[in-house]
Amino acid sequence: MTSADPANPSASAVEAWEAAYLRFESPAAEERKFLRRLTSVGARHWRRDALILDLFCGRGGGARALYRLGFDNVVGLDLSPRLLRERADSSSCLVADCRELPVAAGSVDIAVVQGGLHHLPTIPEDLSAVLSEVARTLRPSGLLFVVEPWRTPFLNIVHRACDIPLARRVVGKLDALATMIEYERDTYEAWLRSGPVILDELDRHFERRHIRRRWGKLYYLGSPRIA
Ligand SMILES: C[S@@+](CC[C@H](N)C(=O)[O-])C[C@H]1O[C@@H](n2cnc3c(N)ncnc32)[C@H](O)[C@@H]1O
Repeated sequence: MTSADPANPSASAVEAWEAAYLRFESPAAEERKFLRRLTSVGARHWRRDALILDLFCGRGGGARALYRLGFDNVVGLDLSPRLLRERADSSSCLVADCRELPVAAGSVDIAVVQGGLHHLPTIPEDLSAVLSEVARTLRPSGLLFVVEPWRTPFLNIVHRACDIPLARRVVGKLDALATMIEYERDTYEAWLRSGPVILDELDRHFERRHIRRRWGKLYYLGSPRIA
């Protein structure tokens, strides 16, 4: 988020970003998006009794999509008490910093991150901290699934549209996205600039099972490297 110190955004910047995030998509549209993403990497074949961590879970759209797929052992973690209060269900969630997971080693089957890593203040240090924690908490048979913004031609077009005031006035979703980007600009741009470093970090901690970069997103599925 934009502030003199990206590691400590002001309370008003956090509030403005959260308000834009809440109006970006309806919870139902968000849930459909997460369902598409999860099924595209084979989630329908995951064991239904899997313990799943939904990291950087925000208001819980990812967890709701997982429930729809039949997973009921899902724990959401996020830094924001406000966004956790927005959850439409009473599912299990914790206020926590994903750089230090309050979770026992080797206890988790699947960790999911959809749009959280690009909020980390320092790349690669914070990314390495999160990935080490995920690798620590996953069982050897576990999986990490990541979806994050990625520099593709489509994303460049979206950024250009965000600079057109008329387009923002007409398309509410574009205005919400542009507002989120304004408030998270420091970490967002640092993330988009760091593609090769990010892939190195992911591959250092995980064995790559699937990767896809299109429509402005990175999809990465990996399993823990066995030491
Ligand atoms: C774009 S939202 C994620 C959306 C979410 N995955 C969903 O299912 O709707 C990014 C989230 O990351 C959270 N966040 C940022 N830094 C964090 C950290 N170090 N640990 C945990 N959560 C963090 C923010 O509070 C915010 O809710």
